[in-house]
Amino acid sequence: SAPRVVLGIESSCDETGVALSRVHPGGEIELLSDVVASSMEEHARFGGVVPEIASRAHLEALVPTVRRALDEAGIERPDAVAATIGPGLAGALLVGVAGAKGYAAAWGVPFYAINHLVGHVAVAQFDGGALPPAVALLVSGGHTQLLHVPSLADPLRELGSTVDDAAGEAYDKVARLLGLGYPGGPVVDKAARGGNSAAIAFPRGMTGPRDAPFDFSFSGLKTSVARYLERAEAAGETVALADVAASFQEAVADVLTSKAVRACADTGAERLLIGGGVAANSRLRELAAERCEAAGIELRIPRPRLCTDNGAMVVAVAGSMIAAGRMPSTLGAATDPGLHV
Ligand code: KG4
Repeated sequence: SAPRVVLGIESSCDETGVALSRVHPGGEIELLSDVVASSMEEHARFGGVVPEIASRAHLEALVPTVRRALDEAGIERPDAVAATIGPGLAGALLVGVAGAKGYAAAWGVPFYAINHLVGHVAVAQFDGGALPPAVALLVSGGHTQLLHVPSLADPLRELGSTVDDAAGEAYDKVARLLGLGYPGGPVVDKAARGGNSAAIAFPRGMTGPRDAPFDFSFSGLKTSVARYLERAEAAGETVALADVAASFQEAVADVLTSKAVRACADTGAERLLIGGGVAANSRLRELAAERCEAAGIELRIPRPRLCTDNGAMVVAVAGSMIAAGRMPSTLGAATDPGLHV
């Protein structure tokens, strides 16, 4: 008979996430538990994630986190095991996948190999119900992509992506130019409060008639902010920090939301999902809500707990595959640090 309860392991970066879900006969997927152990604090003194430390932390956290997730769900043995196989840090992925295969072999249950990016999309079903057909805008420090989501059980289709910097990367770089610290998103967001977003006409990258409609470019915007600050300094003018931050933020939110809404119209999707760290941006959320309402599109931005890495992402995809009757992977399925959608 088809598996019902699936345990999922996420270990692509610095969070060891383990979750369990139950696939109901109608196809609804219920989240039974979702436990995350983070090694973030161990990396803080190095100013970024140290892959070797992350791998070792996963090794230490994996078994106790699986134990806790099973206990919280009240499950002794799931019917299937799933794990993120990529994209992510090679060593970190290996720990989670080797562990998952070990559990699958020991319990004699099937193994499902999961794409981390699909997980970021599929997890939205735990906050607001069914998702597809939808368009997903993934905006983080490493990714800026528009995806068409016809189903959560099948591969997603990339409509476009950034040709240079990711949106979060642009925030981090502009924060550095403004002397605001790291990570840049939250500090620029805060600095923009009360600023005039129309004060400076920063460029909207990739919006010309000949540009790919769903690709993005943010490096010109970053350069334009740098030139603006240099010019002001050379002229001895004081810079209105709030105006620069608000105008920069407006340029990013304008391009992201206009392209996302157009992608919904082009694909006939009635929902727009926004995921990744930049989904926390206040102006992006505001403008997306405004433009989605005007276009008759339902906007879905999952609560922050579901936007960061966790095991719920893994069981969201695995559950969808099980509900759709998709075949499991073999235990030979390899990790793929550079995996695409
Ligand atoms: O998805 P995420 O947590 O992780 C990785 O990409 O690894 O995204 C982090 C990114 C950072 O670049 C951060 O500056 C950005 O999300 N970010 C924001 C905000 N909060 C976080 N960007 C704009 N506005 C925010 N409020």
